[in-house]
Amino acid sequence: MSTRDVVVHPDGPSLAARTGDRLLVTVIDALDARGRADIALTGGSMGSAVVAALAQHPSKEHVDWSRVHFWWGDERYLPAGDPDRNDAQGDAAGLGAVAPESDHVHRVAGPDTTGSAEEAARLYEEALRTHGSGVFDAVLLGVGGDGHVASLFPGHPRQRSNDTIAVAVHHSPKPPPTRVSLTAECLSRARKVWFVVSGPEKAEAVRDGVTGAPASRSSTGLVHGQEETLWLVDQAAARLVGSPD
Ligand code: 6PG
Repeated sequence: MSTRDVVVHPDGPSLAARTGDRLLVTVIDALDARGRADIALTGGSMGSAVVAALAQHPSKEHVDWSRVHFWWGDERYLPAGDPDRNDAQGDAAGLGAVAPESDHVHRVAGPDTTGSAEEAARLYEEALRTHGSGVFDAVLLGVGGDGHVASLFPGHPRQRSNDTIAVAVHHSPKPPPTRVSLTAECLSRARKVWFVVSGPEKAEAVRDGVTGAPASRSSTGLVHGQEETLWLVDQAAARLVGSPD
């Protein structure tokens, strides 16, 4: 990957704001071209910051959000409404302001309504087959300091599973231990994939991802957009990446 695929913003707040702009434009383009948009959101700090930027966006009112479907790249297997769930954090960040149709926010079921994470993964897979368009217009991915994206952890047996869309992940190194994740193959059924990363503690993970480190160090190389794969980062996270040529 060339460093030209890395877009550096001064700090976390401007990264979130500009990613919100980028997402809004992608949604508008998708609605113009295909009449609907499918966006996969990410958990973690940048995931919430981007949702907040979108929810407060000055041009938000110009978009017909009723034709936008939101999905989660992964979810923590916790009961509905648990504040540690990715969707609950998205809700708290204002997701309702851009998703007027509550059934267009496709949520992963938790232990309150399913018997296992495997069942939740199966139901989520079914929802994607039934209500998805087959291709995400944009997939947002936070990146862990350990190189994980969604709940695909380097070295974990569930990091690669090409034959399914969604998988149950047990013994996650990042709490909570049980999760449901879309697979790398499914996340790559995307026009655009954006890794959104902020903070000095992510500098090594960004360098590894940008320079194409092996999957044993970074899951980022397993996920590619069909039209675009971008690293959207702040200066602190870009510290170890060479300057654009
Ligand atoms: C989760 C996320 C996870 C997250 C990264 C980055 O469930 O925790 O989906 O993949 O995006 O860990 O998180 P931060 O932005 O908080 O570092």
